[in-house]
Amino acid sequence: AIVPVILSGGAGTRLWPMSRPERPKQMLPLTAEETMLQLTARRAPSDAGFAAPIIVANALHADMIVEQLEQTGAEPQAVILEPMGRNTAPAIALAAVAAGGGATPLLVMPSDHVIADIPAFHAAIAAAMPKVAEGWMVTFGITPDHPETGYGYIQVGEAIGDGVHKVSRFVEKPPRDAAEAMVASGDHVWNGGIFLFRADIFLAALAEHAPEIVAAAQTSMNRAIREGNRILPDSAEFARSPSDSIDYAVMEKAAQVAVVPVAMGWSDVGSWDALHAISDCDGQGNACRGDVVAIDAVNCLVRAGAGKRIALVGVTDLIVVVDGDDVLILPRGRSQEVKRIIEAMKDQP
Ligand code: GDD
Ligand code: MG
Repeated sequence: AIVPVILSGGAGTRLWPMSRPERPKQMLPLTAEETMLQLTARRAPSDAGFAAPIIVANALHADMIVEQLEQTGAEPQAVILEPMGRNTAPAIALAAVAAGGGATPLLVMPSDHVIADIPAFHAAIAAAMPKVAEGWMVTFGITPDHPETGYGYIQVGEAIGDGVHKVSRFVEKPPRDAAEAMVASGDHVWNGGIFLFRADIFLAALAEHAPEIVAAAQTSMNRAIREGNRILPDSAEFARSPSDSIDYAVMEKAAQVAVVPVAMGWSDVGSWDALHAISDCDGQGNACRGDVVAIDAVNCLVRAGAGKRIALVGVTDLIVVVDGDDVLILPRGRSQEVKRIIEAMKDQP
């Protein structure tokens, strides 16, 4: 059976003030009643034939993660707690080692994305599986609708199976002009950040292109502390791992890389604007959550945290988020700049 590998290491700073280091984006109920982590776990359930998942996460969030997964009924076979973040390639290497290497297929999923059409996602996985069994590493490709510079792009090559194509090239996080050209080309898709491959094939590709990452994963897992399903890789050994993403370390370099283009209502919910775009809005285009009074407001995203009330009159295209003692106000279209706020706050005493 396919083993879901859920990555929960990112901070999601662009969704401040709701997303914070101690409770990042994936642990928040941003798009539904359940958190993004819970929705991710539900996307690959045992009753659809998936094996028990492996979670790879920041050790600081261990209890919150275990509690949230329990609420969904998912019973992880392993919760791997990283002593420090080394980006996605080392995180996935830990999971591949925990899965025992071998031909076990791993479905690597970020914990902070939305997929609206689960049947389409499952169909794409089914389409990929014959090639995965043959040793291909598969990514899922999303049709781009704007020249996003924060994603990887994949040029779709010749078909090698039903719905499966060779990757002609992989361009991680291009500059703006290159992104525009790729969107215009019509033969490029976004890398959805979801991967399907055999554990042994991934480890072999990593051994070829980033041997120190494999070595650190293996030695840190050999010396790991285990408490029930919680695994704490040895800190000193894992610290030796270079920090790199799967995209740069493996996907750009490996030979047998394929893509399954799929329309599945995917969003990485990378900003407040992105959240507004996928929200169910009222007749005036407002997406409000919490205690909100909106009079003559149009196209606003409003989030009132517990115990807070937000009242708006006669405003258009605003993002207003109140969480604890923090208030965020900005016009729609500029939510990428929340990271500037984080930077500015770092400089404050
Ligand atoms: N466990 C663990 N440890 N997870 C991590 C770590 C880590 O050190 N670093 C990142 N992650 C998790 C994040 O929480 C997220 O769920 C996922 O891995 C992807 O990492 P991001 O840091 O969000 O990557 P990205 O958004 O910059 O880029 C990737 O995703 C894009 C789509 O959203 C790339 O794969 C791009 O090519 C892709 O387009
Ligand atoms: Mg991301």
